[in-house]
Amino acid sequence: MLIDTYGRVATDLRVSLTDRCNLRCTYCMPEEGLQWLAKPDLLTDDEIVRLIDIAVSGLGIEEVRFTGGEPLLRPGLVGIVERVAALTPRPLMSLTTNGIGLKRTATALAAAGLDRVNVSLDTLRRDVFKTLTRRDRHQDVLDGLEAARDAGLTPVKVNSVLMPGLNADEAPDLLAWAVAHDYELRFIEQMPLDAQHGWKREGMVTAGDILASLRTRFDLTPEGQGERGSAPAERWLVDGGPHRVGVIASVTRPFCAACDRTRLTADGQVRTCLFAREETDLRAALRSDAPDEEIARIWRLAMWGKKAGAGLDDPSFVQPDRPMSAIGG
Ligand code: 5AD
Ligand code: SF4
Repeated sequence: MLIDTYGRVATDLRVSLTDRCNLRCTYCMPEEGLQWLAKPDLLTDDEIVRLIDIAVSGLGIEEVRFTGGEPLLRPGLVGIVERVAALTPRPLMSLTTNGIGLKRTATALAAAGLDRVNVSLDTLRRDVFKTLTRRDRHQDVLDGLEAARDAGLTPVKVNSVLMPGLNADEAPDLLAWAVAHDYELRFIEQMPLDAQHGWKREGMVTAGDILASLRTRFDLTPEGQGERGSAPAERWLVDGGPHRVGVIASVTRPFCAACDRTRLTADGQVRTCLFAREETDLRAALRSDAPDEEIARIWRLAMWGKKAGAGLDDPSFVQPDRPMSAIGG
């Protein structure tokens, strides 16, 4: 098991497959000038599958989520999914994507064994999308979402980040749209993970703001009060259900005490937390022919050192050097 000194057990593994992306969301990446990981430093498909095998067979991992950057940019993705689906025990598999390219790949991914997708979409307005992501690809995302639903990668979840002055007024419109299309919408508070280190606590749209805005148009009833468990999203039934909306309040209502995650970067570093300032190298062990048991030992030791929490709302918080795009969401 991957257990830490606070008694938390990690059963959910997030694997970043690339730090590259075909969008440039302002809360994530600068327009240009970001330093990419070098190809030889990236784990190969074989190395990724081996680490996931060690995690599910020896470390109690039950769920694997592929992230990026944009994971659909990884050429071997379908093959990786297929091989992970053949592991014993077979983990649940999901993907966090910006949706671009999903139209083309959703069917193959579902056939390979992918269970679900989360698609990031922050706005229903093409012009706002272009400002927010610096790319004119709104329609590709909408097409990708439909393809995911048609391929049975359900429930299809949509992640939205609200930014002041850009899309902060869109919460009710996004929810009406998600309900109409049978997507499960979740709002994520903007976190200090942008490569430019431009996040400001004062400027962010909080969970409180989002709920107040949604309540101008919808009746929200808390679902499973006290049963949030390790799920970061708090959920509400929309107008009595069956549709729901979630809010992930990483900043104003952190859920670190129930965290069940461990993360692997595309260059083979274990991170115990999105906001950790330390990493533990597994790639060197992989490439020096260490046996599975040795790699599992290093991983366990890394998790043992997991900190209690990130304290984003604390003035002493220091942003990690690695941006979100190189950690995975
Ligand atoms: N704060 C909150 N969410 C972010 N994401 C990317 N950067 C940030 C940030 N700084 C979201 C993306 C996507 C998921 C991977 O994380 O919008 O939904
Ligand atoms: Fe790409 Fe996601 Fe970052 Fe946007 S938030 S630039 S889609 S990695």
